[in-house]
Amino acid sequence: MDILKRIKELTKIINQANVDYHTYDNPTMSDYEYDMLFKELKELELAYPEYKQPNSPTDKVGGVILDRFQKVTHDIPMTSLSNAFNFDELADFYHRVQKEIEAFELISELKIDGLAISLIYENGNFIKAVTRGDGQIGEDVSENVKTIKSLPLTLTKPVNITVRGEIFMPYESFYKLNAEREKEGLPLFANPRNAASGTIRQLDSSIVSKRGLDLFVYTIANSDDFEIDTQYEALTLLHKLGFKINKNYRLSNTLSDLFETINHLDRTRQGLNFATDGVVVKVNQFNYQKELGYTARHPKWATAYKFSPEVVETKLLKITFQVGRTGVITPVANLETVEVSGSNVSRATLHNEGFIRDRDIREGDYVYLQKAGEIIPEIISVNMDKRDKQLPFEMITNCPDCNSVLVKKESDADHFCINPDCPSRNINQIIHFASRNAMNIDTLGEKVVETFHGLGYLNNIIDIYSLKDHYDELIELPGFGKKSIDKLLEAIENSKTMPFAKLFFGLGIKNVGAKVAQIIVDELSDIDTIMSATKEELTSIFEIGDVIADSIINYFKDEKNLEIIKFFKENNFVLSQEKVKKLDDHFFSGKTVVLTGTLEHFSRNELSDKLVLLGAKVSSSVSKKTDIVIAGDQAGSKLTKAVELQIKVLSEQELLEILNEE
Ligand code: IVH
Repeated sequence: MDILKRIKELTKIINQANVDYHTYDNPTMSDYEYDMLFKELKELELAYPEYKQPNSPTDKVGGVILDRFQKVTHDIPMTSLSNAFNFDELADFYHRVQKEIEAFELISELKIDGLAISLIYENGNFIKAVTRGDGQIGEDVSENVKTIKSLPLTLTKPVNITVRGEIFMPYESFYKLNAEREKEGLPLFANPRNAASGTIRQLDSSIVSKRGLDLFVYTIANSDDFEIDTQYEALTLLHKLGFKINKNYRLSNTLSDLFETINHLDRTRQGLNFATDGVVVKVNQFNYQKELGYTARHPKWATAYKFSPEVVETKLLKITFQVGRTGVITPVANLETVEVSGSNVSRATLHNEGFIRDRDIREGDYVYLQKAGEIIPEIISVNMDKRDKQLPFEMITNCPDCNSVLVKKESDADHFCINPDCPSRNINQIIHFASRNAMNIDTLGEKVVETFHGLGYLNNIIDIYSLKDHYDELIELPGFGKKSIDKLLEAIENSKTMPFAKLFFGLGIKNVGAKVAQIIVDELSDIDTIMSATKEELTSIFEIGDVIADSIINYFKDEKNLEIIKFFKENNFVLSQEKVKKLDDHFFSGKTVVLTGTLEHFSRNELSDKLVLLGAKVSSSVSKKTDIVIAGDQAGSKLTKAVELQIKVLSEQELLEILNEE
């Protein structure tokens, strides 16, 4: 068998099958057939890596891990659009066009709420995917984009084309991702757009491949190279080439037509499985687009009409209160179930007492609920016309669970239960400690913690480690048994060697999430240094502000918490991390550095991490205390200020030289 020939053949067949399935909704082979061919290709590539094709569909499962994204300059800049927030503003846009062009056609497309991407193909083969960045320079995220199932790796014609589109996360993938994150104790994504852009910035493409991103393409950047005259034709051509386009677009010739189109698209979008936040209205004819041209920032031939978020009215039945792991009390609105932006809502957070008072929200009120691109619904105001004899809201004074008196500090918006023995608080603390991103005690989930707590076996974190003393009783519990208890105890034993940053996160200190925990541990290395750190020392860490510093200091003032740390010490838990080495005599050590402008060789975060490792302090604003300003392309006011203050300015080239020399 000619291996190379077979590999090429399989690559072609599978790529075609992908396009048939994802773009044309027209599967041309069975799943089984597909899997077999895929498996064959994968095996051949493994045995003959030198023959693997650059557009191989096996890359779709990801696996490449990068340490950073390369910067790429867009040959054709990616502009953004002007906005119209109502029909008046849309009419203004229409009349501005009409002033220049007598008769024109408009094409309206749904505005997908994701992130813009530029896709480059040569000879019909996928070459590169670049994010929008600042419109001039973006980042090469090809490995991640390749994993998107509907991205064609080979087009139906061998063209050189640059297309633009939107990467988005369908609602279903979004809900699934957030449900997983909730289980793992990770912060949730506020909406599908954030989830999509967070995902595309992952350095490990196999993570991306699992998150169910999708893609619509809407523009040909080099449309002059094709025999097309309108955006309508561009969409048709894109589809023919194998791209997935969103079919919800419409032409209109008059302003009233346009309004009708917008209303139609607004109705259509309700039933879609992805988020849209408006309609992009474009002049259809390319020659007119050219004639109209651009302002300094936007094309004059297009605008984005933004939908206003859907608002519904419903009855607020009752306000209840939840106790979090830090003891924070959150009032929750229990609502008469209502549908808003496609989902049923029966609960909404009321944040804290201040939020309720500002809006004068009362039990029994009819309230307006809003759900925009944001997925989390929020009460915006009360319908005062329906206010009757509802009584003013009164904040509870005692914990809904343990009844101890709540505490609210002047500086804080929230009330807290500070009873160290409060059951809700303790249960949530234990659940957090055991969660995946903390000590990862796999089988110690919510249900088990509640059960053990109810039976008196688990009152705090320390008790986790004496569960083994109750072995004989635990295995007798209904629903447990020897096997599951053995497994649990083993997971608990293993957790003792968890890295320090995980344990530190697991403590559940207010405002200290997984990332902050890691930063602090990287910087201060061990528990004693952290416990004795002053506020100044803590806030001198880049990223740590007053609020976090205060919560850490307060945490270690609490006798109960000191008790926990003592326990960890006595039982040899991992309470330190090897210090990241700093070079004392480096050019940058001890210097305060400000970064400005776009750099070609580093992302800002990267460079700032690097400088911190070299002993520099990276600050965000230029002042007399600044020692060095590193100025990339298009550096603005910070550079001007540095020159004014006669601060040393380094170009990226000079920076590279220093880094190389040292
Ligand atoms: S056209 C110069 N069409 O909305 C015209 N944009 O500021 C470029 N978007 O950055 C955009 N759906 O990320 C266009 N059908 C669509 C779109 C769309 C979503 C995004 C895109 C762009 C932003 C507008």
